[in-house]
Amino acid sequence: RAKVAVLISGAGSNMAALLYASQVGAPYEIVLVASNDPHAGGLSLAESEGIPTFALSHKGLKRAEHDAAMDAAIRKSGAQYVALAGYMRVLSDEMVQRWEGRMLNIHPSLLPKYKGLDPHARALEAGDEMVGASVHLVTTELDGGEVLGQAQVAVMGGDTPETLAHRVKLAEHQLYPRVLGDYVSRGNDPEYLLGRVRALALALPEAE
Ligand code: GAR
Repeated sequence: RAKVAVLISGAGSNMAALLYASQVGAPYEIVLVASNDPHAGGLSLAESEGIPTFALSHKGLKRAEHDAAMDAAIRKSGAQYVALAGYMRVLSDEMVQRWEGRMLNIHPSLLPKYKGLDPHARALEAGDEMVGASVHLVTTELDGGEVLGQAQVAVMGGDTPETLAHRVKLAEHQLYPRVLGDYVSRGNDPEYLLGRVRALALALPEAE
C-alpha cells in the first residue's frame, strides 16, 4: 500500500477520516501525522491509533527552516505522498517542488472559487447556492493546482460560515479518502496511464 504522511494544524477530522479509511482497506497507509502546532488535537488522536507523530512549532523559525525539518521527518517516515489536511501554513516553493505530483490538499471551497482564507463567508456574501470542498494537487500557486475531486453542499436558509464549515467538513470526510485512494492507485489503472500518455504526446512538439 502507498505510504502517506498527513500534515495537520488543528482538530484533524480529515486526518481521522483518512486514517479510518486506511484501516478498512483503502489502498494507502498513514505512516506519519505531523503538525506545526504541538497542541493540535489530531496529534493525540493519531497517537491513540498507534500512528507515529511529529510536531514542531513554526514560531521563531524561518519558513524554509521549518519546512526542512518537516520534510526530514516526512522522509524518515518513508512516506511516498503527503496529504495536507487543515495544514494552515503556506509551504515554501522548495518544499512544494520537492513533492510535486505527490502532495495533495483539501480546500473548503469549489475551486477555482475562493482560494485562500474564509471561503464560507465569501460564498455567503456572494449569495452562492452551492458550496463545497476540493481535493487538489499542491503547486506553488496557492490552492491553484489540478483539482482531483470535489463535493458539493447546498446552502440553506439561516446558514452561517460556521454551519457551512461544519456541513462541508462532513462532505470532506467522504471526499478525501476516496480521492486520495484513487490517486495513489492510478499507477495500476490502464485508463489513467493511457490518459497521461496521450496528454504527454499532445504536450510534445510536433515531429518534423
Ligand atoms: C478543513 O475544512 C479543511 O478543508 C480546511 O481546514 C479544515 C480542517 O479541519 N483547510 C483549509 O482551510 C486549508 N486552507 P480538520 O482539522 O478537522 O480536518
